[in-house]
Amino acid sequence: MKAIEIRNKYLNFFKNHGHSIIPSAPVIPENDPSVLFTTAGMQPLVPYLLGQKHPSGTRLTDFQKCVRTNDIDEVGDNRHLTYFEMLGNWSLGDYFKEESIAMSYEFLTRELKIPESKISVTCFAGDEDCQKDEESYKAWKKAGIPDERIYFFGKDNNWWIAGEEGPCGPDTEMFYDTGKPKCSPDCNPSCDCGKYVEIWNNVFMEFYKDKNGYTKLSQKNVDTGLGLERMAMLLQGKETPYEIELFSPVMEKLEELQNIDNIQSRRIVAEHMRSSIMIINDGGKPSNVDRGYILRRLLRRMTRHLNKLGIDLNKLPEIIDTSIDAIKELYPELEQNRELIKNAIIEEKDKFIKTLKNGEREFEKVANRTKNSGKKVLDTEAVFNLYETYGFPPEMTEELAQEQNLEVDMTDYQKLFKEHQEKSRLGSEQKFKGGLASTGEIEIKYHTATHLLNAALKVVLGDHVHQKGSNITEERMRFDFSHDSKMTEEEKQKVENLVNEWISQKLDVTVEEMPKEDAIKSGAECMFIEKYPDIVTVYTIGTVSKELCGGPHVKNTGELGHFKIKKEEASSAGVRRIKAILE
Ligand code: SER
Repeated sequence: MKAIEIRNKYLNFFKNHGHSIIPSAPVIPENDPSVLFTTAGMQPLVPYLLGQKHPSGTRLTDFQKCVRTNDIDEVGDNRHLTYFEMLGNWSLGDYFKEESIAMSYEFLTRELKIPESKISVTCFAGDEDCQKDEESYKAWKKAGIPDERIYFFGKDNNWWIAGEEGPCGPDTEMFYDTGKPKCSPDCNPSCDCGKYVEIWNNVFMEFYKDKNGYTKLSQKNVDTGLGLERMAMLLQGKETPYEIELFSPVMEKLEELQNIDNIQSRRIVAEHMRSSIMIINDGGKPSNVDRGYILRRLLRRMTRHLNKLGIDLNKLPEIIDTSIDAIKELYPELEQNRELIKNAIIEEKDKFIKTLKNGEREFEKVANRTKNSGKKVLDTEAVFNLYETYGFPPEMTEELAQEQNLEVDMTDYQKLFKEHQEKSRLGSEQKFKGGLASTGEIEIKYHTATHLLNAALKVVLGDHVHQKGSNITEERMRFDFSHDSKMTEEEKQKVENLVNEWISQKLDVTVEEMPKEDAIKSGAECMFIEKYPDIVTVYTIGTVSKELCGGPHVKNTGELGHFKIKKEEASSAGVRRIKAILE
């Protein structure tokens, strides 16, 4: 079964079970300062898991584009992917364990036609925070899984939380038995010898964890995640995701173009290429910070492995095309961004090539110096210099060093890197303060109008709208936001009318300070790129808007005058730009 068929079956199945299909959020999170990329389907849904009402109801399903980058260096083996698609279904205080398990079982056995005998499941064994999950056990028994294929494990295996803090709970996981022999008599689904492959995770989110421990959420939720590529791989009887239709054309293309055979390098190129395409498609740009840096690392590692395969880099456009063609049935919007994506990848490759030659020479010098002085570990300042001056990601320096039996002290490097970041952060704070000092009355008005515009866009276009950038001068405001298509005249008019209505309602603008976690829990809007302190200021406008913001703002929307949109245009992939004035 092809990936697209699995996805369609999934969404239809849950639709037929009363779920609303909601769109995938971008891989670049819009209002979650805690992570660089969207790593799970639940991530964009956190406010709703915490109790906020979702406009599409209490049963939701979607496919979510995800990027997980903790294991970049593992890519090239037969399973790690940095980009993957997660199919998911959610109950927001609606059904709970029994119904969730019954639906999962029905989907796996009836829709995907996986023989029941190939399915094993695991449940939470219980501890001081939460009791043993008898309810899931009973539900599995009722569905038809016999005792010998139901296992119990502790928090290490059967508890799910994104990071350190947030909604969480015990989970039940489903495993596919590949039919390989047990690696030992105790071999079970928690073993990673490859006999059992995890295919689906149903999390029963009824807790919230923070540094003080666990508390109960106001509602019991279900959050499930099924990895699309892995399921396609299993159903197609393949050993690695690189053999399914989303990768195989690229793998073949690379084989055709290569002069040196290296399957690991081919996998790295195919994998990093696809992740980069998806990140750029959602507005990512290579840079030296945060997610832009991850993208840069992916692209540079990809380029290095193209070199290792002896592939002429002028063939890059062809390889990108092949890669886009292999996945465009899943993501038709790639067609529209094809040129933009190609240009971004090629531009980064060119930049890298330019510095690579000099950098490699410099690297050799550093490596020789290290060896000559009888050391094994490269001087951290030199590693930093390779990064700053020659654009060598330290992880790449590490890879190169390993080839010569040398090492990089990454902990020391991180320390140096943080010191450097701190310096530049102080620099930009200075700039910020300078900017505010010159904030006049009209800029303050525009600032408040920006919050109203953000809120109005959400009402008219949908909850996917989030601020991507803003710029204010005495003459106008400019606002960038996530949205895929050009706004119609009618949409623009609606937004304008709504903002003007809120202005005429003379809404109070209030400010309060609160811990960051509380602000995020309360659903306050915030822009990801800013690093917020522990205590944040939140500006609230009547009941229409709530945002983390440093201010300043007017006291009442009545002060703003008449709001008018002058222009709406594309800013970058998936990002639109509005210029507006107050008259
Ligand atoms: N959040 C869970 C996971 O990522 C289930 O979707 O596995």
